[in-house]
Amino acid sequence: MADVDEILTKAVIPAAGLGTRFLPATKATPKEMLPVVDTPAIQLVVEEAVAAGLDDVLMVTGRNKRPLEDHFDIAAELETTLEAKGDTERLHLVQRSADLASVHYVRQGEPKGLGHAVLCAARHVGHEAFAVLLGDDLIDPRDPLLTRMIDVRRRLGGSVVALMEVPREQIHLYGCAAVDVLPGEDDDVVRVTDLVEKPSIEEAPSSYAVIGRYVLDPSVFTVLEKTEPGRGGEIQLTDALRTLAHDVEPGAGGGVTGVVFRGRRYDTGDRLSYLQAVVRLACEREDLGPELRAWLKEFVQTL
Ligand code: UTP
Repeated sequence: MADVDEILTKAVIPAAGLGTRFLPATKATPKEMLPVVDTPAIQLVVEEAVAAGLDDVLMVTGRNKRPLEDHFDIAAELETTLEAKGDTERLHLVQRSADLASVHYVRQGEPKGLGHAVLCAARHVGHEAFAVLLGDDLIDPRDPLLTRMIDVRRRLGGSVVALMEVPREQIHLYGCAAVDVLPGEDDDVVRVTDLVEKPSIEEAPSSYAVIGRYVLDPSVFTVLEKTEPGRGGEIQLTDALRTLAHDVEPGAGGGVTGVVFRGRRYDTGDRLSYLQAVVRLACEREDLGPELRAWLKEFVQTL
């Protein structure tokens, strides 16, 4: 049910996937720990959650949880060394990730899919609405998508997905939403009438791809418990959202709204888009950008 006074505090970050597209880098490290210039993707995602007011972060981890835990913990030896050297700038960088949020962990025994990873958060989340953020998508802090989604959840209730228009030939890489206008709302807020996971161009009901930010009603857990493995033999979050859109009454937490994102998103999900994201973000940085841009201009002449 809609509740404009509702306060969301919890964010769930699934990081238990196998990350096969990045092997061998992800053999012993979760792909969410891959650096985006010099910061692990997952730290940028936690910073985004905190900026939206969500400072209780649950990470769903898999077999390689150690680097994640270490990253969000204090690093006594490193801190002492940097302190002794008087290197306060780097000391601050090392301490920042441990101070960001209250970080918790839950284990997903087997990587049975994103829907299953979210279900692993049920006990921690309880009966509150919560956000899910995927490290594959980085949202520029200048375009606060999650804050907008939380506002929509408060006003309209139900669950909220982030949508982005993509070229039709790329839609098979995403979950895809069929949408309808929502009278009285701005044109970035739409009703989601159907969802299909990774459809072919012919099957795709629109060019709206579901990207890696969700604000979910806790009724999603009851639905996920009953969701059978779908595409790829995995329990798909998209399938549970489809049930919430179609079969669950608004009074019982059903209904799905889409927020169409037109801001800056950096896709780090596969090797090519990851490289593009790193170059774009490094080019924008004050410390690295000027030299990198000059070098890139010269480099492209040689291609
Ligand atoms: P992906 O579909 O990108 O899968 O997961 P993946 O296994 O990580 O990567 P590839 O395709 O093998 O390279 C989307 C998000 O869901 C998490 C992943 O960690 C990623 O953040 N996930 C996926 C889980 O936590 N558990 C799962 O069982 C599956």
